[in-house]
Amino acid sequence: MLRAEEREALVAAALAAREQAYAPYSHYHVGAALLTKDGALITGANVENAVYPLGICAERVAVAKAVSEGHRHFRAIAIASETGVAPCGACRQTLREFAEHLPILLVDAQGRVVQEVDLADLLPLAFSEQDLEAGSRERGAKS
Ligand code: THU
Repeated sequence: MLRAEEREALVAAALAAREQAYAPYSHYHVGAALLTKDGALITGANVENAVYPLGICAERVAVAKAVSEGHRHFRAIAIASETGVAPCGACRQTLREFAEHLPILLVDAQGRVVQEVDLADLLPLAFSEQDLEAGSRERGAKS
């Protein structure tokens, strides 16, 4: 369970990160903030590119920053956008790599938490590391 002050800090960090979005093409600004198991807040913003497919979402920036700084265990993520949208499929899968269940706070531009969802509900029947292991056992048995 998140304490009230942790929720507030997450929301504030996601809103502040949104200010840093580099989105000159879509003009759609998103900020994300991850609360790590040890209490750190790691943020990300979407970063677009003139070569459109190279743009990256706020959530994946936050995950990459966190993991590359030694944080792999997360308690929650807040995602701030104009209306409090849910993360895209690629970001759901990226988050799933590091958490089966993860509270996701969807925050609008005014800082309201419009919805709170669990990652497992956003990505049912997720493909994960266990599927790779099961597959390799099966392949080993055949050879
Ligand atoms: N975007 C995010 O950063 N996170 C989301 O959850 C949805 C979409 C970004 C990607 C792109 O820079 C812009 O929003 C429009 O799709």
